[in-house]
Amino acid sequence: MTVKQSVAWQALEAHLQKDIAPYSLKQLFTNAGARRFEDLSVATDGLLLDFSKQKLTPDTFSLLIDLAQQQGLGEATNALYSGGEVNRSEMRPALHTALRATPSDQGGDIQIDGQQVSQLVANNLLDMERIATKIQQGEWLGYSGQPITTVINIGVGGSDIGPHMVCHALDEFRVETKFPLEIMFVSSMDGSQLAEMLQHLDQASTLFIIASKTFTTIDTLANAETARAWLRKRIPSDSLIGQHHLVGCSAFPQRMAAWGIPVENQIALWDWVGGRYSLWSGIGLPIAIKLGMRGFKQLLKGAHAMDDHFQNAKPEQNLPVMLALTGIWNINFLGLKAHTLLPYDGRLKLLPNYLSQLEMESNGKSVTNTGESVDFDTSPVIWGDVGANAQHAFFQLLHQGTPAYYADFIVPIKRTASSEYTQATRTQLDYQQALNLANCVAQSRVLMLGDDVLAWDQSMVTSPDRLYPGNHASSTLMFDELTPENLGKLIALYEHKVFVQAVVWDINPFDQWGVELGKQIAKTTLSAIEKRQAGTITAADVKFDASTEGLLNHVFRQQS
Ligand code: F6P
Repeated sequence: MTVKQSVAWQALEAHLQKDIAPYSLKQLFTNAGARRFEDLSVATDGLLLDFSKQKLTPDTFSLLIDLAQQQGLGEATNALYSGGEVNRSEMRPALHTALRATPSDQGGDIQIDGQQVSQLVANNLLDMERIATKIQQGEWLGYSGQPITTVINIGVGGSDIGPHMVCHALDEFRVETKFPLEIMFVSSMDGSQLAEMLQHLDQASTLFIIASKTFTTIDTLANAETARAWLRKRIPSDSLIGQHHLVGCSAFPQRMAAWGIPVENQIALWDWVGGRYSLWSGIGLPIAIKLGMRGFKQLLKGAHAMDDHFQNAKPEQNLPVMLALTGIWNINFLGLKAHTLLPYDGRLKLLPNYLSQLEMESNGKSVTNTGESVDFDTSPVIWGDVGANAQHAFFQLLHQGTPAYYADFIVPIKRTASSEYTQATRTQLDYQQALNLANCVAQSRVLMLGDDVLAWDQSMVTSPDRLYPGNHASSTLMFDELTPENLGKLIALYEHKVFVQAVVWDINPFDQWGVELGKQIAKTTLSAIEKRQAGTITAADVKFDASTEGLLNHVFRQQS
């Protein structure tokens, strides 16, 4: 039996039919009056979440909280924090909360394989600090004695998107370095990003971070080999390359060593840190290099504050719980299968991409923890962009298109312009932030009310092209200002949201078996292509489907 057959689910179905389905969003506002915002928003320590533009009432939340409690949310959360085997298919804990915990926290004494987790984390932070500080102070020298001025992180998925997103978002918090320092990210398997960068770089002053939890990911290893081939062109030996130009972060030190990364340039990782939950670990080294250890620890501090909040706040005041339950309501009861994330801040441009991995790789599942097929939807399709830019792109579909979706608007209240600007520039930047905030609030209002936002007679609208149906659900998340601490809170908020939804659905958010088959088949396909090109096998030796065969034949013809 899945959660769909449970008492709490059935109660929500009945509530939907009786109390929600008959009404539009506008009517729900009219029914509740001014109280609706007070009743359906939660504020905590620098963050405010407004759920009032969702198609629900306070009773909906009471019933959703019953559902979460029925599914054992309290016990599951305790298991998550205390190192229980919450990743059931791989029989391991998921201890990203321990990466940002203080030693005195509950769970600070978790032991894994006879090792104390808090001690491992503390040592790891010291290793990161040692490497980051040397680079910042211009003391990390290339093989010829020149200081490192370019750091390139080679990784993919969780070993790329998280640090990349944070480095981009918090660029203005970068620490001063002795020499100008560029931090770049390379992930694409085709080598195009790397090829473009290498043209403009000097081997003598470039350091590569090879970031791969498994150290077997072909995308990352292929880019790393290309980088090494480029280094070899100028640097006389592999030992000089390893010592001066390579740093690695992986859960497999032997693999790093075998590949040529010396022990002193390795940062440890552990199987109890999931890839998409790893920016808080050594995988976050580019962040520590950019922000300094102080900035990196502020990011951790913010995430830790959210961990505390999630563990201790009552469900109705609990931001991750409320955000998750809103999603459950939209996906499972209102049938909304697409979710758009709209940060109104250019610095958060990469956030939708980051959150789409976090949510879709975690909860894009179709069997429960006991192996039963689900008979309800799990993760929606997630996409997004900087909200103000998306207004000139896919908002047309949001306002007048046909697919059903819901939206999260994410916006900082203020933005402090650097004191290095003139007063006139600062005034103009303040105006732009006001403009941005107004657009954010206006768009969610128009999505909700459609044409009714205007005090006009709709019969005056002559063309149906100009009609806006409205009645689209959204939440708005406001935070004081974009700082390392607030970004830490924001990311951890979504991590815990994903966890709560997984608990309700009884699925495992910490594995990703769905990505494995494609990797395996790509390997055998590559081998078949190479053998066909070398003439050691013919088409008759490998049975591909007609489409794959046709595509490969086209490639062979074009290449010959
Ligand atoms: O292919 C998916 C994935 O396994 C992600 O979960 C992970 O973040 C990414 O690949 C990179 O893996 P690794 O860090 O082991 O190279």
